Amino acid sequence: MRNHAKTFFDRGWCRFDFDPQLHSWVEAALGSARATLNDSRQAKWLRYQGTWFAGVNALPNDARGAVGTSGALRGMALDFIAEELGLRDFAWDAAQVSICYPGYPLPMTGESRGQARYRREFDAAHVDGLLPEGPGRRRHLREYHGFILGIPMVEFDADASPFVVWEGSHEIVRAAFGRRFAGLAPGLWGEQDITDVYHAAREQAFAECKRVEVHARPGEAFIAHRLVLHGTAPWREGAVAGDDGRMICYFRPDPFGPYEWLNNP
Ligand SMILES: [Fe+2]
Repeated sequence: MRNHAKTFFDRGWCRFDFDPQLHSWVEAALGSARATLNDSRQAKWLRYQGTWFAGVNALPNDARGAVGTSGALRGMALDFIAEELGLRDFAWDAAQVSICYPGYPLPMTGESRGQARYRREFDAAHVDGLLPEGPGRRRHLREYHGFILGIPMVEFDADASPFVVWEGSHEIVRAAFGRRFAGLAPGLWGEQDITDVYHAAREQAFAECKRVEVHARPGEAFIAHRLVLHGTAPWREGAVAGDDGRMICYFRPDPFGPYEWLNNP
């Protein structure tokens, strides 16, 4: 756990080796994850000409992370979250079921040239929780995820639209927002337009941080720091995956408010 913590806090992410407890959760939850694709309420999530099912909060798990016969989420990653992040007894969110297919990202109608290029060339890199609002898509801090936990649900290879992280960018983001919000009560942070400081922090991360692709197999998992710049790489020619594509469940619970979001380790 110590090694994991050092890696996580230095780089902004870490990976967990095969864990039988997590693997049995994956085996039990896979049917429910697959079923989200056939749920008419979730059809809106199929985007980029069918090359990405975004599946936000699509998994019908309960607050313990249980779905179907899986029982509560358990294992090394959960121990890490409790011991190193100090987060216990929070409610698990309904997981995102994110599925990429060959060709991701094909152009999507309504998307500008710049947006398409950013998705293809910069992995649609972003920091979670900074939501675009209004016609100008101005960014505001609206969600305070404790972390991002990625759980691969099936086998796929490292070329199948891997998760991408800019190592160390969480501290660039923390410093930038620390300056931006200095002297403001946390209750007021959400109404601030933070578009410019966010874009500047992103540019700094692209210039200074190492871009790393993360691959993991069922039973393994990875966790990303809530402030880290991250995204999804395009599907590379020749990538190998089954009919389920590159299916990853992401949990992003909200265990605290804006102050902890910015200041916790
Ligand atoms: Fe994200």
